[in-house]
This record gives sequence, structure tokens and C-alpha cells, in this order.
Amino acid sequence: MTTPASAQQHLAHIGVVGMAVMGSNLARNFASKGHTVAIYNRSPEKTRAVMEEFGAEGDFIPAETIEEFVASLERPRKAVIMVQAGPATDAVIAQLVDAMDEGDIIIDGGNSLFTDTIRREREVAATGRHFVGAGISGGEEGALRGPSIMPGGPAESWETLGPLLEDIAAKVDGVPCVTHIGPDGAGHFVKMVHNGIEYADMQVIGEAYHLLRYAAGLEPAQIADIFAEWNKGDLDSYLIEITAEVLRQVDARTGQPFIDVIVDAAGQKGTGRWTVKEALDLGVPTTGIGEAVFARALSSALAQREAAHEAGLPAGEVSTLASLGVDTQAFVEDVRRALYASKLVAYAQGFDEINAGSQEHDWGIKPGDLARIWRGGCIIRAKFLDRITEAYERDPELPSLLLDPYFKGELEKGLVDSWRRVVVVATQLGLPVPVFASSLSYYDSLRADRLPAALIQGQRDFFGAHTYRRVDMEGTFHTTWSGEREELSY
Ligand code: ATR
Repeated sequence: MTTPASAQQHLAHIGVVGMAVMGSNLARNFASKGHTVAIYNRSPEKTRAVMEEFGAEGDFIPAETIEEFVASLERPRKAVIMVQAGPATDAVIAQLVDAMDEGDIIIDGGNSLFTDTIRREREVAATGRHFVGAGISGGEEGALRGPSIMPGGPAESWETLGPLLEDIAAKVDGVPCVTHIGPDGAGHFVKMVHNGIEYADMQVIGEAYHLLRYAAGLEPAQIADIFAEWNKGDLDSYLIEITAEVLRQVDARTGQPFIDVIVDAAGQKGTGRWTVKEALDLGVPTTGIGEAVFARALSSALAQREAAHEAGLPAGEVSTLASLGVDTQAFVEDVRRALYASKLVAYAQGFDEINAGSQEHDWGIKPGDLARIWRGGCIIRAKFLDRITEAYERDPELPSLLLDPYFKGELEKGLVDSWRRVVVVATQLGLPVPVFASSLSYYDSLRADRLPAALIQGQRDFFGAHTYRRVDMEGTFHTTWSGEREELSY
């Protein structure tokens, strides 16, 4: 369908479709690494604007039609789609499939739902073209300066595409933050859970801030200093770093702390929700991510919160930290440790979901690789990820991150006591800590000798003859509750 390119023709190594901020930044990133980049946008004004503003930065080939765009790519052609997830992505894929030839590679760099990616891969593969769903994390800045990239799709596409993606990815200790995740939807699945973990990470930081502010009574600027200090230790991460920046900010209009002029209703675009829905289907308890998603939903239920406020729901016997006999400085350190422990649980659960997804879809994902490529470029980049990488190097089959000797050692170093004290204090003061508290419950459930599930099995057998197993012998049993209460075995 396309014009054969003559050997002399100036061709692009790669092309980017969609010249909104993410797409244009990704194109500029490729160009900054010495690649010739074809660019195209449905509305040509955007392409022209990118050329006007950034054209001098590198070697771009602007195109005003998709055919012109495809003709300007060297073979096998490689085009990254950076448009809205959903129907827009499907529309662009259909245009590219028409204009491309067998062996060409279509890459979806958007935040697509992994089941869409599985479907698209199947449809595109049937035409002889290759399809790669690639999760790209790091926001606008990451796209421009070096994101963390999670490509799925066929292994042979990775051979062609890998070197190009390695060029533009973030580097940590010289190692690029990109690897082939696995077939079809594996990349977008991992990106989805990455975003879910990001929700939990942000929420635990939020809970720590809330306690320092409303339990310890510290001012935002003081809390900024505390976060900046925490950023020098185990919690060293991008999110802690920007938290200090946000808390130090003063609103130019009012002179108030910036944090106090922001409406406390958190938005969401859906990847956190997808992570939890998928966790439910896989039967993996990602309680930290779940509570973080629900916390955002509750924060945004403004009418309901307003009604509750007006109704004056009782808070209980609210006291101050001092009245509880808790020393402020000791409390601050306890909060740091509770944050660390809750974050560890959120990551452990996220990796559990990835392992379960990988098993379900036969993706062969290596969890240690993920920790390695999340060390740079993405929003959850953190020193902590080095520890996770090492944990999976020690034992690639680790049943839970919490059981890794390093993390277990951390928990043994007093983390658990601090965590309990923080949840107790928050509860006494009536301050919400959904992820701190649920993560602690998850931890206690995981380590418990006995769980109340035995009683649930008894109840299920009573009302629905759902049967139960016994601790002392093999088999399945039912007690005839409404009759003689004799035990039948199956
Ligand atoms: P942002 O929020 O940064 O603007 P976005 O909304 O995720 O980015 O993506 C917008 C991009 O998707 C634009 O490049 C848009 O093209 P236009 O500039 O022509 O609007 C592109 N896009 C949306 N729907 C599209 C479609 N059906 N076909 C092709 N491109 C489409």
C-alpha cells in the first residue's frame, strides 16, 4: 500500500503518532538520542507547532497524512501511538495496519487496558504486522528525559525495538529502565499494577502527612523538613521528594500553605481501579491498593462528606497526642516506620498480583526485572526498589516480599511495634489511616496461626452445605446441621 522508499530517501528510524504533550516529548527524546523521528498528528496544526517550537532540536520528518508518515519510516517500520486510550487508539491502529506492510511494528505507548492490548495484538498479528503494548511511566518529564518502559508483545519485536527503547529509557547505574516484560498484554498489565502501587504509595505518604499535621500538630513547612530528612534514608524516593516540595510551597494569592488551599478531593483516571478489579478476579488481596483507590473515592464524595460534617457524627473522646502521653519526636519516628512498613505491604501485594497475572496468562514475567526497571524514570522510583531487585535476585520464587530476609530483618528492627502504635494513636484520635491500618491487618493475617476462616467454613456448611476440610484428616466433609448433626465425608 505504501510508496517504496529509494535507498537515498531520508527515512526515519521510528515514528510517533499523537503530538499532544506525551507524544511530542517522546519524539523529542528519540531525536535527542540522534534518531530521525517521523511525527504525525490527526490535526496537522499540532505537528506544525511541534516543528516550530522544537524542530531545531533534532532530525524530525513531519507528516500531514498517515500514508506520508508511514512512507517516511525505514523498514521494518516502527510507529509509537501516543493518543488517548480506547477508541482513538483503535482508530489509529486501523489506519496504521492499512498503511503498513507485513513485519512492521505498531507500538501502543498509551495507558491501555491490558485486555484491549491482548485483543489488539491478536487482531494485528492476524494481518502479519506486529503489535507491542508498552506501558510508559514517568509523566511528561519522563517521556522527554527518560521514562521507565514496560513493553509486551512478541519477543521478535523486542529484538528490533529494544535498542531504540533502551536509548530513550531512564538509566540507573548505566542500566536502562526497560526490558521485554512478556507476550501480548504483559507490558500493559505490569504498567497497570505499577500505577496501582503508585496509588498506595501516595496514600501512605498522605496518611503520614495527615498524622504529622493533625495528631502531632506540626505545620506544613515543618513537615516538609521531616520529609526532606526521610528522603535521605530508607524512604529515599521521588514521591517523598516531591511531597517535601508541595508541603513547602506557599500560595501566592493568600500567603497560606499551598496544601491548605487545595480542595481535598483526589481525582483518578482509572488504572488504580483496574488494578483492584483485576486483583478481585485473580483472587489476590491487594488491600493497600484497594484502600488507596477507595480513599480517593471517599475524598471525592463531597456531598456525602458535607452531610456527615453537618450532621456532626460523633468523633468519640478525641484527645491530643500529649494527652495520650505520646512524645512528638518519638511519634514522628513511629510514623516514618509505619509508612515504610505499609509501603512494603503495598509492594508485596502488587508483586503478588503481577505473579498471579503472569501465571494466569502464561507470561513468564520475572518480578526482579520489574523492580530493576522501576528504579528510574517512573513515579514510584525509589531506593527501596534496589532492595526489591536484590530480594528477587536472592530468590526469584519468593512467596512474598515480606518473607525476604532483608525485609523480614527490617520488620524485626522494631518496625512492627511502631506501626501498631501509630494505628492505635490514629484510631484513638479519630484520624483515618485506611492503608496503614489495613496493611497491618494484612500483615497480621499473613502471619497468623489460625484465621476466622474456619468459622466462615462452618457457617457456609450450616446454611448452604458448602462442605469443609478437617485439620486432622484428608477429604471433604459436611455436617447434617438440620438433622442428627452427623458428619458425612465425600
Ligand atoms: P493530552 O491529554 O496530553 O492532550 P490525550 O488527550 O491523551 O493527550 O491525547 C490527545 C491526542 O490524541 C491528540 O494528539 C489527539 O489528536 P488531535 O490533536 O487531532 O485531537 C489524539 N487523538 C484523539 N482521538 C483521536 C483519533 N480518533 N484519531 C487520531 N488521533 C486522535
